[in-house]
Amino acid sequence: MTDALRASLYATDLLRRRGKHPAGRPEGTAPREIRAVGVAGAGLMAGQLALLLARSLRVPVTMRDLDDERARRGLAAVHDQVDRLRTQGRLDAGGATALKDLLRVTTDLADLRGCDLVVEAVFEELDVKRQVLAELEDVVGPTAVLATNTSALSVTDMAAGIEHPERVVGLHFFNPVAQMPLVEVVRADRTDDVTYATAFAVAQACRKTPVAVADAPGFVVNRLLVRLLGEVLGALEEGTTVADADRALTGMGLPMGPFQLLQLVGPAVAEHVLVTLRHELGARYADSPGLARVVREGRAFVVFEGRPSASSPVDPAVGELFGSRPVPRPLDAAGLADRVRRALAEETGLLLDDGVVADAGDVDLAMILGAGWPLHNGGLTPYLDRTGAAEAVTGRRFHEAGVASLPR
Ligand code: 3HC
Repeated sequence: MTDALRASLYATDLLRRRGKHPAGRPEGTAPREIRAVGVAGAGLMAGQLALLLARSLRVPVTMRDLDDERARRGLAAVHDQVDRLRTQGRLDAGGATALKDLLRVTTDLADLRGCDLVVEAVFEELDVKRQVLAELEDVVGPTAVLATNTSALSVTDMAAGIEHPERVVGLHFFNPVAQMPLVEVVRADRTDDVTYATAFAVAQACRKTPVAVADAPGFVVNRLLVRLLGEVLGALEEGTTVADADRALTGMGLPMGPFQLLQLVGPAVAEHVLVTLRHELGARYADSPGLARVVREGRAFVVFEGRPSASSPVDPAVGELFGSRPVPRPLDAAGLADRVRRALAEETGLLLDDGVVADAGDVDLAMILGAGWPLHNGGLTPYLDRTGAAEAVTGRRFHEAGVASLPR
């Protein structure tokens, strides 16, 4: 009997119970029938979403982007993914053709007329997303559900000003969309029951586990992951080496290091979410001129050897772009690990106090399913209890001893 065994049992039980009965799913309201889907945008995320929706719901899915070149590239990328599924043996020839037939692309907004669900996955700028929702409202029917895949923006703010804000809901998927089993479902102030029930039904039809989260900046997973990344980037700005930062978190058992994660999310998206959360939640989300330079100069955090993977080696040269603080205070790997644990303990305490999710179990569920965090640490909160970070920072444990750890 060890802490790791106890934490694993806790996490397994959580996944089984919440998998069957998703936290927050409304009971007794029938979801809308979905016969055609639109996706606003044809970028990387939009393409992954279109493929998942077509594969899962078996209905026509139309992506819409602004110009022919983006639309063409978007469809080519999705077709490429279908071909890869075919060569991997996950689809037969007939299945691949049928799937391609369901996937369309357009530049004409009017082609989304008749969609029962439109998922927007356009640039993470509140005004842009507001405009997209307003334009969509002009073409789709009065009951069509408008879902946003925003990473960190307020769904309520996004829906403000449109004619039917009750049909707007957050449906937040994680990268890589095909692999990560979580969807954060965000109920905005005006979202009605049918829209909310439809969001849960769509997530489940895609074989994902929906978790209800409040409409709060970064919801759960991005709020914690980006806080973690912000601590690592902040340490680089203060003189910690890339090699030490790369080593620092290995004991946490994460599926990829912070630099591979930055690359997976995309440096530009990571910067955008970091800036949004800094603005919304405060200076504890680090300011990182180095990250801004990585984006501006089109640099990468990892060295690509074929396709990027969880084990792509970190590019030490990227360290040159950091070190903006006038008085260096470098940390070694252990020092940075401690800093990250303390930050995660603080942020978890705050998000529970803010009522972003019902309890610590939902935080763990979200981190296990949305970010691949390990069962043997119980996701996150049992680990923060076990290492003492929770008590040191928040003055309390997230679980009584014996729940996800050895009894006292
Ligand atoms: N950069 C870019 N792409 C990467 C990558 C990286 N560092 N690592 C993996 N990928 C891609 C691969 O190219 C592959 O794409 P493909 O299916 O088109 O070939 C896909 O991810 C899966 O990679 P692998 O085949 O290597 O799969 P593994 O079985 O090794 O699992 C993993 C990889 C599932 C990505 C695992 O490492 C994991 O769970 N990592 C954590 C992922 C995570 O935290 N996601 C949440 C990010 S936050 C987010 O998406 C929210 C948004 O709002 C920003």
